Amino acid sequence: MFFELRALLIGEYAIFLCLALNKYLYSKHIFIIMQEIKFYSGENIPLELHKVRIVQKLNLVPVERRMEALYEGGFNTFKLSTRDVFLDMLTDSGTNAMSDNQISAMLRADDAYAGSQSFERLQQAVEDVLDKEYLLPVHQGRAAENILSEAYIKKGDIIPMNYHFTTAMAHITLRGGQIAELLYDEAYVINSDHPFKGNMNIEKLEEVIQSYGPENVPFIRMEASTNLIGGQPFSMQNLRDVRAIADKYGLLLVLDASLLGENAYLIIQREEEFKNSDMKTVIKLMTGLSDICYFSARKLSCSRGGGICTNNTDVYKKLQVFVPLYEGFLTYGGMSIREVEAMAVGLYEVWDETIVSQSPIFIKYLVDSLDAKGVPMVKPAGVLGAHVDAMQICSHVPQNEYPAGALAAAFFLISGVRGMERGTLSNQRDENGVEPLANMELLRLAVPRRVFTLSQIKYVEDRMAWLYENRHLIGGLRFIEEPPVLRFFMGKLEPTSDWPQKLMAKFKEDFGDSL
Ligand code: F0G
Repeated sequence: MFFELRALLIGEYAIFLCLALNKYLYSKHIFIIMQEIKFYSGENIPLELHKVRIVQKLNLVPVERRMEALYEGGFNTFKLSTRDVFLDMLTDSGTNAMSDNQISAMLRADDAYAGSQSFERLQQAVEDVLDKEYLLPVHQGRAAENILSEAYIKKGDIIPMNYHFTTAMAHITLRGGQIAELLYDEAYVINSDHPFKGNMNIEKLEEVIQSYGPENVPFIRMEASTNLIGGQPFSMQNLRDVRAIADKYGLLLVLDASLLGENAYLIIQREEEFKNSDMKTVIKLMTGLSDICYFSARKLSCSRGGGICTNNTDVYKKLQVFVPLYEGFLTYGGMSIREVEAMAVGLYEVWDETIVSQSPIFIKYLVDSLDAKGVPMVKPAGVLGAHVDAMQICSHVPQNEYPAGALAAAFFLISGVRGMERGTLSNQRDENGVEPLANMELLRLAVPRRVFTLSQIKYVEDRMAWLYENRHLIGGLRFIEEPPVLRFFMGKLEPTSDWPQKLMAKFKEDFGDSL
C-alpha cells in the first residue's frame, strides 16, 4: 500500500514537473524555431526532431488479402479495417502523434459535468494562443459547422468562401443555403509555384456580395490551408483584404482554423513581410482578423474535439444556446475531459514551429521525390498530405467513373497504403440528382504529424512510382450503394471491369513473393 502510494505520488510529481516545465517554456516564449538542418553529403533529407517512445505494430498483408479487403469494403478506402492497412494515410484527423506533455496532462483531468478546471485551462489556452475571450466547446469540427449554420443560415443565403470543405458545405446546403467558391484561377493549376493558392478572389467576393445583397450573406468563410485543393495556404495580406471587404459591408468573417498552424508556418516561409516573425505573432494576427474562429481539434491541437471562439459577446450569446442542446454542457461540449486537457496543451504546442512543420517538411520531401520521377503532384507541396493528380494519371478513366477513387483503390491494392479520394466521389448530387464533376481529382496521402518514419515515406514513393509506370492498368468504378448525403464515407462501389485482377497479376510479375 505504502509503495503503491509512493509510486502514485512520484508519478503525479513527474506529471506536475512536466506540466510546470511546459508552462514555463511557453510563458517565456521559448520555442525552437525551425532551421534547416544541412547534411554534409548535400542530400536534402528531412530530420525527425523527436524520438519514438510508444509504438504500434503494423501489418503488411499479402496482395491477395488486400484484393479481398477491397471487395469487402466496396472499393471505398473508408470501409477498410486497419487490420488490412499498412500505412494509414487516410487522414491527419485525430491520427497525429500526441506529445508526452499532452499524455501527461490527460491524467489530471478534472471530470465534472459543470465548472471543470480542465475547461478553464483550455479557455486560458484559447485566450493565449488564439486571442479569443469566449470559447464554446464542441465534439469535433463539423459540430461547430452545424451550430454556425443553425444560428446564421436561412434558405436562399449565400456563403462566400475560398473553397468548401465537405462537412461545412453539407451543413450549409442542409439549411437551404448555397456556397460560392471564390479562388483565383491559379488555385486550380496543379503544377504551380504560386505560394498562396488558397487566397480568396477579392474582386469576385465583392461581386457576389453586391449581386446577392449583404443581407443574404450571413458570413464569409476563410479556410486556413484550404484542404480540398491540396492543403494550400492563403496569405496574411489576402486575409487582411477579405477583412476590409467584410468591414465595408458589415459582414462577419469566420475562420476555419483547423489547419491554422500549418497556414501560419507557410506564411512565415513564403510571405516576405513575415519571414522573421514567430508562430505566436502570426497566429494572433490571423485570428485577430476574424470575428469567429472554429476548429477541428483533431487537426489543430493533435487531440480530438473542437471549438468555436470569438471576442464578440453578441455572437457568443447567440451560439451558446446550441451547445447544451447538441453537444453537452458548456464546460465539456461533448468531449472527454481528458481530451480537453490534451487540447489545452496541444494548442500551446502550435506555437512550436518544430512540431507544426514536421508534417509539411515530410510532405514536401514526398511531393518533390515523386515529382522528380514524373508523377503528377499538386505543387507547391501543401500541408496535411501529398496530393496525387488522378485526373492526369487516370486520364483514360472518365470523371463519372471516379478516377481518384480508382487510384486510391489501386494504390491500396499494390502497397497496403490507404489514401483518400478527394474529387467527384466526395461531391454530393444536387437537388435534381445531378452529380457535379469536381475541379480536381486528387488522391490525398495524408501525413499525420510525427507518425511515419522516412523509410515508410520512401516505401510510399517507391510503390507510387511503380503504379505510375503501370497506370494504364487502372480502370473505373461505379456505385452499387450510394447514400444521399456525404456518400464518400459509406458508399459501396465496384470496378467497371476486371482491371484490379490485371493490376494484381502485373504486381506479382514484378514483385514476386514480396509483400
Ligand atoms: N474543416 C476542415 C478544414 C477540415 O479539414 C475538417 C476535417 C473539418 C472542418 C471537420 O472537422 O472532422 O473534426 O468534424 N477534416 C478531416 C480530413 C475529416 O480528413 O481532412 P471534424
